[in-house]
Amino acid sequence: MGFCKWVSLIFILHMFVPTPVSSDSSLSPEELAKIPVNFLDHAKTPEVVDWMVGIRRTLHENPELGFEEFETSKLIRAELDKMGIPYKYPIAVTGLIGFIGTGGPPFVAIRADMDALAMQEIVEWEHKSKVPGKMHACGHDAHVAMLLGAAKMLQEHRHDLQGTVVLVFQPAEEGGGGAKKMLEAGVLENVDAIFGLHVAADRPIGKVASRPGPLLAASGFFEAVISGKGGHAAIPQHTIDPILAASNVIVSLQHLVSREADPLDSQVVTVAKFQGGGAFNVIPDSVTIGGTFRAFSKESFVQLKQRIEEVILGQASVQRCNATVDFHANDRPFYPVTVNNKDLHKHFQNVVGDMLGAHNIIEMQPLMGGEDFSFFAEEIPGYFFYLGMNDETLGQLESGHSPNFKVNEDALPYGAALHASLATRYLLENQPKSTLPTGSVHDEL
Ligand SMILES: *[C@@H]1O[C@H](CO)[C@@H](O)[C@H](O)[C@H]1NC(C)=O
Ligand SMILES: [Zn+2]
Ligand SMILES: [Zn+2]
Repeated sequence: MGFCKWVSLIFILHMFVPTPVSSDSSLSPEELAKIPVNFLDHAKTPEVVDWMVGIRRTLHENPELGFEEFETSKLIRAELDKMGIPYKYPIAVTGLIGFIGTGGPPFVAIRADMDALAMQEIVEWEHKSKVPGKMHACGHDAHVAMLLGAAKMLQEHRHDLQGTVVLVFQPAEEGGGGAKKMLEAGVLENVDAIFGLHVAADRPIGKVASRPGPLLAASGFFEAVISGKGGHAAIPQHTIDPILAASNVIVSLQHLVSREADPLDSQVVTVAKFQGGGAFNVIPDSVTIGGTFRAFSKESFVQLKQRIEEVILGQASVQRCNATVDFHANDRPFYPVTVNNKDLHKHFQNVVGDMLGAHNIIEMQPLMGGEDFSFFAEEIPGYFFYLGMNDETLGQLESGHSPNFKVNEDALPYGAALHASLATRYLLENQPKSTLPTGSVHDEL
């Protein structure tokens, strides 16, 4: 297999050429270009594909919500144990980090999220979720399988790594901010760069999409209770109607983006929850509304948050109601803007160009979605990209968070190979200037 050529090449280099002390790799551009191709070939072998598909299906049948990924984490650790990959566990309840390579610098991290969503799968297939009301509808089962696939290939070639790959398995991406907790536990100390990916139902298989700079929005949630005075629906003069007050609050909230934000500075305010009342002839005491807000800069985000609170309180009082606003910042931390590092974008273009050809890299527009990968990318240079899954011959795939969501498992080898290639090439091309890689994993981290 082609991959062996690369292995034996590095072996020869180790024997006859002094390990490089410059920032340049000792491999020629042609040799570097072969690495991603060889990883993709390797990832497409039945040995790796079938194993990844098996893991993904097991996880799909047994989805777990954020910070409850105990069995998922256990499965990952069992696989790492089998491969002889050391790891640190637990981090942020169920998270863990594994290490492959020299144990010394440089360090590059590749990340997968592990959590599922609180929703019912309606796809009828052999490996449907066995847990009522829980479903891997965002593809995080595939993310874990691909990161393990990368780990498997990297571990086989660990002696060729010129530095250390850090495998980051994080809990609770879906609102819980697992990345923030992992970060607070120090998982990125000494790490020079981090890569993450997400499956994309709307991009063709064999293609990837991303952009340098801001990619995904800052994201927050709000909930408000609007209190009036309940009573008979036919005698409104004896009540203070919170339903009408809440309705006006919602309309006023829509003016924040349309009238107060710069039209060229994308923002979103959505009220997604409206709960109150029940009977046709009773005005309720109170109504609860809630939703999300998004922006592409910290300033706009903070401004939006402040105005949401002011509008809810002010507009409720216009109709004699009281209101309280809760941003749930403890259990649903605000996600920062996901910003892709520009140098890593070049690295991504180089590596993916070598693997798939430059024409398979889609330069995409930013999305208003949020990702807690942003916490990592705020701390160190980070890069997040989308992995195409769509195969027109199989029909259009539903997008993430749909109860009909499906993963095209043919995408798994691409994701595994991209993780492995981005990390391997990063280490080769970012050697420390003065010192050689030394030390053990546990000393360094
Ligand atoms: C609003 O709060 C004030 C002060 O606590 C209270 O006097 C008033 O009754 C409240 N109004 C409603 C509609 O709950
Ligand atoms: Zn999601
Ligand atoms: Zn997701």
